[in-house]
Amino acid sequence: MPDKGPDLSVKFGGLTFPNPIGVGAIGEHWGHSNSTQEYVDINSDIFMKHVKAGAGYIIMAGTYVTPETERLIQERCQTIEVPFRRKSKKVGHRMLKIPGKDPYGTEGFYFVPSPFLLDAGFGKFNKDRFAFMIEALQKKKPKEVPLVLNLGGIANIAETWVDGAKRFEELGVDMIEINLGCPLPSGLDGTLQGYFQDKYTPLYQGLLMGDNEKYVYEITKAVVDAVKIPVGVKLTPETGYPRIITMAQAARSAGAKFVQMFNAAVGMAPPDIYNGGKPQWPYMDGSPFCMVSGSFLRVPCYKDVAAVKRYVPGLDIAAAGGLVEPEHFIEAMMLGASLVQPCTGIIEQGNGLIRRGISFMKKFVKEQGYNSLQEIVGISQQYIKYNQDLDMMAGKTIINIDREKCIRCQRCVDNVCQALYTVEGGHIEVDPHRCVGCGGCTLACRNDALKVVLREGVSEPNFF
Ligand SMILES: Cc1cc2nc3c(=O)[nH]c(=O)nc-3n(C[C@H](O)[C@H](O)[C@H](O)COP(=O)(O)O)c2cc1C
Ligand code: SF4
Ligand code: SF4
Repeated sequence: MPDKGPDLSVKFGGLTFPNPIGVGAIGEHWGHSNSTQEYVDINSDIFMKHVKAGAGYIIMAGTYVTPETERLIQERCQTIEVPFRRKSKKVGHRMLKIPGKDPYGTEGFYFVPSPFLLDAGFGKFNKDRFAFMIEALQKKKPKEVPLVLNLGGIANIAETWVDGAKRFEELGVDMIEINLGCPLPSGLDGTLQGYFQDKYTPLYQGLLMGDNEKYVYEITKAVVDAVKIPVGVKLTPETGYPRIITMAQAARSAGAKFVQMFNAAVGMAPPDIYNGGKPQWPYMDGSPFCMVSGSFLRVPCYKDVAAVKRYVPGLDIAAAGGLVEPEHFIEAMMLGASLVQPCTGIIEQGNGLIRRGISFMKKFVKEQGYNSLQEIVGISQQYIKYNQDLDMMAGKTIINIDREKCIRCQRCVDNVCQALYTVEGGHIEVDPHRCVGCGGCTLACRNDALKVVLREGVSEPNFF
C-alpha cells in the first residue's frame, strides 16, 4: 500500500482510488499451470506484486455465459461450418520485441496468444477459476484498493455481456470495464466477414464491437441496466479521431461512467527482409494480424484522451497506450485522464515502473505546489485552442546555431530547409530573410546545436 504523504487519491467512475496507477488488463497468464488452485495462487500473487509496488487498483479479465444465453448465441450468430481450426491444444503464446533506440523505447511489442478463441465454452470452463481468483484477491488485497473486472462477452449478443457482469458483481467486484477494444479477434478467420456483413461468429469480437457505435451503445446499456456497480467501456486506438468521440458519446448515452483509452492496436509484425520476407516471429510458420503495443501508442493515446475530455464532458477517462515513464502518467492526467494504466511498460520494466511512478507523483505534487493529484486532471485542457486562435509569434522567431555544439555534419543543410547553408570550413549559416523560425531543422541535429529563439528586439511573449 502507498505510504502516507501527498494526496494521490483520485475520483473515478464514482469511486475513490488511492492513486491513479494500475496495470492495464492482461487477460490470460502466459505459463502452464496444473490445477485451478495453482493458477489462482500464481496469478493472484502476480496481481498482489503490483499492489505491493503501490498500484491503486487491480484489473482482472473475466467472461461468463449462462446455458440459456448460449442458446441465443447459436440462434443469432453466423454458423461456423467447420470446427475451429486449432493446430495445437497447448498454450502457445508468443511475443516479439521490435526495439526502439531509447532504453525504454520498445517501438512495437507484438503479441499472438495461443489460438485465441474466446467462446461461450471458455466462459463456462473458467467459471470457477474466475470465482476463485476474485475470492483470493479479495482476501489478499487491502479494502481500499478497488477490483475492476475487465469484461468479455460473445459477439454482439448483449445478453452474454450481461451474464458476466451480473455474475462478477455478485462475486463482489467494484467496477466493470467492458472490453470493446481487444485487437486479437482481427487475427481470426471469419471475424472480418462478420464485421462487414453484421453477422458475427460465436466468439468474442473485441474491437469489432468497439468500433461500432450501435454495439457500444447496446452492450453498454444492457450491462449498465443489469448491475448497480459503475460501468465503463474500454475502446480501441483503431477507431481514432474523430470517431472516438462518437464511441465515447455512445458509451455516455448508455450510462457508462467512464471510458478507458485504450486497448492495444492491431499489428502486423515486420517481415524478415534478409530471409525472403518470412515472419520475424520465432518458431511460427506464419504472421497473423495480431496485437501490438509499445511506445508508439502514446501519440494516439494523448490525442484521444484530449478529444474525449474536451468533446464528451461527463465521462471519466482512464489512459493507456505507450505510457512507459512516470512523466507520461502526469501528461495523460493533465490532458484529462483520472487513471493511468501502463501495461507494456510493466512487461518491459517490471513493477519498478509502479514504484517509480508513485514516488515521482508524490514528489511532483509537493514540488509543484498542488494540494492533491486530483487537481491536475484536465488542467491542460484550457490550452487546447483552435488553430485560428493561436498567437505563434509569426515573423518574430529565428533559428540560433550554437557553434560550440555544431560538429559541421551538414545533416541540417542536406535537407528540406531553404534557409540554412554551408560557408567556408563547413560552418552553417542561416539566411535571416528566409528563416521562418519553424524549428524543423532541430529534428536533423543530433548535437542540440539548433534552437528556435526570438529575433533581436522582440520581447518575451505574454500569452496568458
Ligand atoms: C500481453 C498483453 C495482454 C493483454 N490483455 C488484455 C486483456 O485481457 N484485456 C484488455 O482489455 N486489455 C488487454 N491488454 C491491453 C492492455 O491492457 C493495454 O490497454 C494496452 O496494451 C495499451 O497499453 P500499453 O501500451 O501500456 O501496453 C493486453 C496487453 C498486452 C500487451
Ligand atoms: S527554423 Fe525552419 S526555416 Fe529556419 S532554418 Fe530551421 S527549418 Fe529552416
Ligand atoms: S545538424 Fe547540427 S551539428 Fe550538424 S551541421 Fe547542422 S547544426 Fe551542425
